[in-house]
Amino acid sequence: GTVVLAYSGGLDTSCILVWLKEQGYNVIAYLANIGQDEDFEAARKKAESLGAKKVFIEDLRSQFVEDFIWPAVQANAVYEDRYPLGTAVARPCIAHRQVEIARREGAQFVSHGATGKGNDQIRFELTCYALYPEVKIIAPWRIPEFYNRFRGRTDLMEYAQKHGIPVPVTPRAPWSMDANLMHISYESGILENPKSHAPADLYLMTKNPEDSPNEPDVLEIEFKNGVPVRVTNVKESTSKDTPLDIFSYLNEIGGKHGVGRIDIVENRFIGMKSRGIYETPGGTVLLKAHLDIETFTMDKEVRRIKQGLGIRFSELVYNGFWDSPECDFLSVFKGQVYILGRESSKSLYNEELVSMDVQGDYDPCDASGFIRINAVRLREHHRLQGFSGTK
Ligand code: ARG
Ligand code: SIN
Repeated sequence: GTVVLAYSGGLDTSCILVWLKEQGYNVIAYLANIGQDEDFEAARKKAESLGAKKVFIEDLRSQFVEDFIWPAVQANAVYEDRYPLGTAVARPCIAHRQVEIARREGAQFVSHGATGKGNDQIRFELTCYALYPEVKIIAPWRIPEFYNRFRGRTDLMEYAQKHGIPVPVTPRAPWSMDANLMHISYESGILENPKSHAPADLYLMTKNPEDSPNEPDVLEIEFKNGVPVRVTNVKESTSKDTPLDIFSYLNEIGGKHGVGRIDIVENRFIGMKSRGIYETPGGTVLLKAHLDIETFTMDKEVRRIKQGLGIRFSELVYNGFWDSPECDFLSVFKGQVYILGRESSKSLYNEELVSMDVQGDYDPCDASGFIRINAVRLREHHRLQGFSGTK
């Protein structure tokens, strides 16, 4: 069979690519450009050299902003009062194109490198099932033959060396990162201890507020239907007016002033608590600005109803239900404190349970059924409605 692999260019998905080939699949490597810092041409060559039958590198940046970030802005989407959902909105964006490619190429299978403990597996797979109900999913990190063989990074490195997979030369940060236009998230590794503080050099999108300029920038943001249509830097009298330019500019200005850093422990859909650090500069500026203009222009009672729906929308998006009847339904409606670490004698946080490095009392295979049960309704919905495109 043919499998479309969501390929990142990194060590894990490179090993997965070769491993899938070893299992007898034709592998199509698909790499979405959603604004992460990546040498896409090098990644293409790498995937080709590893034996991918085809490589698709897709620039989804504008689509990501317009079809995924903008609805989050309209909803004031924030999970558990703090997390602006930068990874959660990116996954369905990636999966939409992955399904398109799979259908076009006649591939029955899709694959990804998300672990069996996280949210990303659910987001990828629920979207795939919702848009392509017959699809078969290969999640290597939930397949015992795979995860028993690759118990840690050393196993991946060894496999890579054996199979001519170029191994990263730059020393690896002791945490895992997920980067896109909207944010960078940092978790696992040394951050798994919820009390330990993030080192100052972790943040890549935002300046340390202590080193940020004393002079403010003054922005004028013009909204139409709940999304920004123009941003003007008043002092410099420069302005931007396309979604991608607007968002990128807000990232630049927000980043320059150290806006949008958070350090939280959140509740994953699977049920465990996990510590995450995020920087969402442009998204944070927009959240504040949109909340303000919305309160200014919206009837008091309508606003209260919308606020409740916004919370629900955020939970749905976090849990991977971007493409669901309920999410479609909701979409019809239109000076800082920094937490550095935490500890408690009553903590429900379980470092072993959440860890990317040890299995703990958790069977990743259980996640397959969990996801498939959650997808039952979505696949039925697709059967009746057919695919009607993005919101
Ligand atoms: N905890 C965040 C979320 O669930 C971030 C996940 C980061 N994903 C990753 N592959 N590093 O949205
Ligand atoms: C992963 O487990 O692959 C990343 C974290 C998450 O999906 O929540």
